[in-house]
Amino acid sequence: MIYECPRCHDLLEIRYDYERMASQVDTKLWRSRPFSLWRYLEQIPISGETRIVTLGEGGTGLHKSENLADDLGLNKLRIKFEGENPTGSFKDRGMTVSVSKALEVGARMVACASTGNTSASLSAYAARAGLRCVVLIPAGKIGQGKLAQAIAHGATILEIEGNFDDALRSAIELTKRNKSIALMNSVNPFRIEGQKTLAFEICDQLDFRSPDVIVVPVGNAGNISAIWKGFEELIKLRIIDKVPRMIGIQAEGAAPIASAYKQKNSEIQIVQRPETIATAIRIGAPASWKKALRAVRDSQGAMETVSDEEILQAQKDIARREGLFVEPASASSVAGLKKLLEQDLIDRDEEIVCVATGHGLHRHRRHAGGKLHCHLPDSGLLLCC
Ligand code: F0G
Repeated sequence: MIYECPRCHDLLEIRYDYERMASQVDTKLWRSRPFSLWRYLEQIPISGETRIVTLGEGGTGLHKSENLADDLGLNKLRIKFEGENPTGSFKDRGMTVSVSKALEVGARMVACASTGNTSASLSAYAARAGLRCVVLIPAGKIGQGKLAQAIAHGATILEIEGNFDDALRSAIELTKRNKSIALMNSVNPFRIEGQKTLAFEICDQLDFRSPDVIVVPVGNAGNISAIWKGFEELIKLRIIDKVPRMIGIQAEGAAPIASAYKQKNSEIQIVQRPETIATAIRIGAPASWKKALRAVRDSQGAMETVSDEEILQAQKDIARREGLFVEPASASSVAGLKKLLEQDLIDRDEEIVCVATGHGLHRHRRHAGGKLHCHLPDSGLLLCC
């Protein structure tokens, strides 16, 4: 599989004949199906013969968050809680599609780099599909619950000395050299096709209306790009008549896209040593930065940064005021919302959806002490150096 345009090196994107799709789309048919992302089957590029690898992803709650709304002086605030997905994050939306596609094209093995959630998700879907799986993770920097899932599902886990960006470079190299291994990071356009359904679901849950504002944590920037693609498609399919402003939130110590946005630069400057307590978004060289900047620009949205203290406070607020336990990266959307309100960038009467991308049970793991490990499925912990 190729992921980049051989000429301009931009990431590939899946497009459809939207006029034809608009004439065939049937929201009554959607509603007659169970509330899951496969409700939108005709909008996902999977052929009728493909075996769909599913664990019951999507169909997550859009929780009215009245307590937090009161605290912030807002009228309409909702949290889309992606921690309700089978492995605890929105990544499952992408994996059900990309792993099904990998089976369709005859892949035997799948691989990804990850700050944790992608590896947990891919390991589960690969297990379900009967595919071998290798995940590359930054040593000592991923949540315990995420690593536990990858081990439980029998993935080969390679801990990389370095950060997510180093792991992604290695994963790309590995899959370029071994054509039989399919790369499952969000540079894979089928991941984006699954993740765009987050937008479909939000509109579906609002009776085919779009909210005014979506606030979403940004790391490698696949998700904000996917959600925006979803909203753009809903317009092309004539299901909604306006799109929301897309607001991306990055952690202060890992904010190349937010910095470029604020400085009005058209290119990002890579952050060599990204640092934040929100390990899931500890990324300095996001692969989908161009798409993210485009989403923010085209939707007249914004990018903002939040400190680790603001993230932890928001995590606590969401847990204590709304009963939702989200991981730090996920809480950055609510932390960012507070900042945007302080700057009057959001009107208090607007309808706002904060995406809480992953479950809080994915606790951070204490690092074992400078050793690199390779966990192989059958032999447990095999290699130390
Ligand atoms: N929130 C959580 C909980 C995440 O795990 C991630 C990304 C993001 C937000 C950011 O999404 O990368 O599409 O902008 N986690 C990836 C991983 C990088 O490997 O699990 P993004």
